[in-house]
Amino acid sequence: MPDKAHYGLLKGKKGIVFGPLDESSIGWQIALHAYNEGAEIAISNVATALRFGNIDELAGKCGDAPVIVCDATKNEDVDKAFVELKKKFGPVDFIVHSIGMSQNIRKQMPYEELNYEWFMRTLDVSGMSLHRLVSYALRNGAINDGGSILALSYIASQRNYWTYSDMGDAKSLLESIVRSYGPRLAQRGIRINTISQSPTYTKAGSGIPGFEQMHEYSDLMSPLGNASAEECAEYAVTLLSDLTRKVTMQNLFHDGGYSSMGATIPMIRLAHEALHDEDLARRVDLEDYKPSR
Ligand SMILES: NC(=O)c1ccc[n+]([C@@H]2O[C@H](COP(=O)([O-])OP(=O)(O)OC[C@H]3O[C@@H](n4cnc5c(N)ncnc54)[C@H](O)[C@@H]3O)[C@@H](O)[C@H]2O)c1
Repeated sequence: MPDKAHYGLLKGKKGIVFGPLDESSIGWQIALHAYNEGAEIAISNVATALRFGNIDELAGKCGDAPVIVCDATKNEDVDKAFVELKKKFGPVDFIVHSIGMSQNIRKQMPYEELNYEWFMRTLDVSGMSLHRLVSYALRNGAINDGGSILALSYIASQRNYWTYSDMGDAKSLLESIVRSYGPRLAQRGIRINTISQSPTYTKAGSGIPGFEQMHEYSDLMSPLGNASAEECAEYAVTLLSDLTRKVTMQNLFHDGGYSSMGATIPMIRLAHEALHDEDLARRVDLEDYKPSR
């Protein structure tokens, strides 16, 4: 059991987390924190992730949680996953979508030259899969009235982040699916939200070109600093609990205040010093920069 305070927020609840891979995964931390808050947990991922990740270790830490193999881009897999889940658990109280992947990012394709088959795959894996999970959970009667559905997003859905490429488009789709489902699910008291999380060192996150720089920049721009995967899981638990029954159709920033900042003193100082240091300005290709007045 956990070495830090827990509150039994999810006592008596059952849920499934799609997407834990290893200890760094946001989904891993959410599954573990939900279990530690009293929930019964099932875990799901694609077959390759079960081979290469440490999912059995997580299952062990979550009270021998059932592990369900499912490719969230395949209707038959998702259908079967909810049939199996219902057989093992009955209908669940929460579903967490912690899934994302872009082949265009992995292969560092410039945005102007995206491979469209990979682009479709990014949208399918990282966006449309949320629609599919909700759809098959409903068709199979696998989610209870009053339940909670949660997915993970990033601020690149709304603002430009050069290197986030087609994942920004996928996150816009993801957040839009949340809004489209919101009123429909509300008829059964089910809520659906995204958490927009700080850059976090995970397999998917650190595959983004320039991730280290983005992580540092974001930390300097966030009054409370970047949020970790564990902190994200702590927040997620509240959204799966009965304490947030009227929160739905929201994209909730969990980013140390980053999304509300224009500029921070450390970033202003850093930019100013760098621009007036000739060697440094040359190193970052800004030697010809002249401030406009
Ligand atoms: N790491 C970050 O900086 C960051 C920031 C904001 C949001 N997020 C989001 O958090 C979520 C979890 O990512 P993470 O950063 O923990 O990385 P991660 O690599 O640990 O998790 C991504 C998971 O998606 C799974 N996946 C890929 N294709 C799949 C498919 N077809 N079906 C089912 N599962 C599939 C992978 O196996 C992996 O377990 C993603 O939606 C990601 O975009 C991450």
